[in-house]
Amino acid sequence: MSIERTLAILKPDCVRKNLIGDVISRIQGAGFKVRALKMVQLSLREAEGFYVVHSERPFFGELTAFMSSGPCVPIVLEKENAVLDFRALIGATNPAEADEGTIRQAYADSVGENIVHGSDSVENGRLEGNYFFPEHSIVNNTP
Ligand code: CMP
Repeated sequence: MSIERTLAILKPDCVRKNLIGDVISRIQGAGFKVRALKMVQLSLREAEGFYVVHSERPFFGELTAFMSSGPCVPIVLEKENAVLDFRALIGATNPAEADEGTIRQAYADSVGENIVHGSDSVENGRLEGNYFFPEHSIVNNTP
């Protein structure tokens, strides 16, 4: 296994529910290093750009309206096997199907409002990370 990066986004429902600290605590407790982090309010255009791969899906309008409905917190994370391990930590997209002990099982209300995003591949992790953070702003020496 190799060291990978993945992009997490604490979604607007996570911010609204005051769960930023709890969710980051779980993420760090699982061994992920925070390499870049900020709070940002996406415009509808920016949300559409981030989720462009889903632009033909019936839920695209709902998804992008939600993601631009309030502040969110993108975070570049690093760890051995980060992409798959992060997806295991957050659980299934639909919280009704998420395993016990996962972040979505604990906090998410629905498939649309599911607290957190995680990249689905190393390449998408890099692209998604660079959507929010220029490469030079991602640090590599956090404890
Ligand atoms: P995410 O991992 O951010 O990637 C795409 C998102 O689309 C996904 O999480 C879900 O929140 C959202 N999504 C998937 N299916 C639906 C759906 N049927 N209705 C609304 N949103 C959805």
